[in-house]
Amino acid sequence: MDLSTKVRAAFEAAFPGNDFSFVRAVPATDRKFGDYQCNDALKLAKPMRLNPREVAAKVAEKLSADEAVAKVEVAGPGFLNITVSGAWISSRLGLLAADGNLSVPQIGKGKKIVIDYSSPNAAKQMHIGHIRSTVIGGALDRIFRTLGYDVIADNHLGDWGTQFGILIKGYRELLTDEERENLTVATLEKCYVLSAARAKEEDGVWREGCKAELVKLQQGDEGNRALWKRFIDISIGEFERMYSKLGVSFDTYRGESYYNDMMPGVVKRLQEVSLAVESEGALVVNLENENLGVAIVRKSDGGYNYTTSDLACVESRVKEYQPERIIYVTDARQQLHFKQWFSIAAKLGCTTKLVHVPFGLMSFQGKAISTREGNLVRLDELLSEAVKRSLAIVTSRRGSEEASSNPSEEDIRLAEQIGYGAVKYSDLSHDPITDIDFSWDKALALDGNSGPYLQYAYARVNSLMEKAGVSGVEGAFSVEESSERSLALQLLEFPGAVVRAAEAYKPSILADYLFQTAQLYSSFYQNTPVLKSDEETRRARLNLCALFGSVLSKGLSCLGIETPKRI
Ligand code: ARG
Repeated sequence: MDLSTKVRAAFEAAFPGNDFSFVRAVPATDRKFGDYQCNDALKLAKPMRLNPREVAAKVAEKLSADEAVAKVEVAGPGFLNITVSGAWISSRLGLLAADGNLSVPQIGKGKKIVIDYSSPNAAKQMHIGHIRSTVIGGALDRIFRTLGYDVIADNHLGDWGTQFGILIKGYRELLTDEERENLTVATLEKCYVLSAARAKEEDGVWREGCKAELVKLQQGDEGNRALWKRFIDISIGEFERMYSKLGVSFDTYRGESYYNDMMPGVVKRLQEVSLAVESEGALVVNLENENLGVAIVRKSDGGYNYTTSDLACVESRVKEYQPERIIYVTDARQQLHFKQWFSIAAKLGCTTKLVHVPFGLMSFQGKAISTREGNLVRLDELLSEAVKRSLAIVTSRRGSEEASSNPSEEDIRLAEQIGYGAVKYSDLSHDPITDIDFSWDKALALDGNSGPYLQYAYARVNSLMEKAGVSGVEGAFSVEESSERSLALQLLEFPGAVVRAAEAYKPSILADYLFQTAQLYSSFYQNTPVLKSDEETRRARLNLCALFGSVLSKGLSCLGIETPKRI
């Protein structure tokens, strides 16, 4: 039984007939006073008109009878400070170690979630601005799956709109035969730039031509449809090359185009219930009494927009998947958009929980990411650079000339694991909503809060186990010394950290937890002899090491970061 359940039982025994589902024991903020604390006696005292210290004392009395509890004290206005027994800690660690899920509760069993993330625009190369949605979304995807949810990862590609008229015209008239044959996303990007420039010409001929191609596409012209489809397929192929490096994969790539035909229906319904009204030729939903301004759902030229598209999309997803929740991961500048259409969807009767996970801006080496600054680094280049720099670290640690001038396949694979892990962790270690700066020094630091630091910690514990000739946990854990105890209690918090990260939609909670755990492990390892202690202690300490390794590896895998066994 976990400690919260025990404390709840003590409340029930002391005050029978009440609902104590809110009662929790949480890790103590100051370990001087105990391992855990429970502040819930205060919540109970008020409605019962009792003195909170007396409530706490009664609960403490019941709780002290439990073998798991070594000491329980009432402090301050009615806090319970609880010290648990070493035997209980060891048995809880044993349960964690024996469970393939490391005791992560399967709270998502039977529940479906759609996560809409990455969602780049087709026919353009991904650049570093695309990292955040991809990496944060990918981590949430993994975290929710770890909790047992049935996750549908949906890439809401930007695959529709005026740019396709420009692209098709450019493709037909500006590309060489060879470029057309070996079409790549880079070529499409160039084609767009050239064609868009010509669309600005004064006579307007090119512009009209682009429009005509767009109209043909929208009306289902076979040739243009086929071209469009080819542009999308090539784009997805290129995106998937990035995704496989970043360890993310999608169940579906339903772009905006998929919802195109559904938009008139949405607008019709909005009009039927008088939510949408005419305003200066456009159709709008007034959300001013919610302080959300006015949302356009049909432009004055009759076209639909992002709001209409998301409304059609949510209806379709709800109907098809009946998800418990839909999560959208985009940059924070889209907050108003999501607030607006979430509100409209609710008014249309949507009861599915809709969650927007906004993230802050990313700068690169101290500079804003922009084409003008000349630092709009392509994602591909960034990832290659990450591997190159990691390879230098790996081979320099090997220490031989040979290793650095002629790296082995194994070293290259290792450098990929380190490099991609570093890029991802440098983002995931921050609360999504904060603005972050990507810097090579920080991302690749071997001694700070970085991906490589955690990967090295894993490789080190793994090599220790190899040296000791053990592969996993066997028997009891040693929790006598204070550094052992701190580490042990921290390991028990792993399931809670996964749950909290999911509840808050912040992978950073899990990253923080893992970093703290690695620090506690390192202080344990420095202060406590493992291999040199007597046989029984040695095994019990190795068990702590082994479990630390499993927690670290599972936690990093929730963040999409690999853990090579040897570095
Ligand atoms: N394509 C959009 C962008 O590049 C993100 C789409 C997010 N998903 C959605 N359903 N609106 O910012």
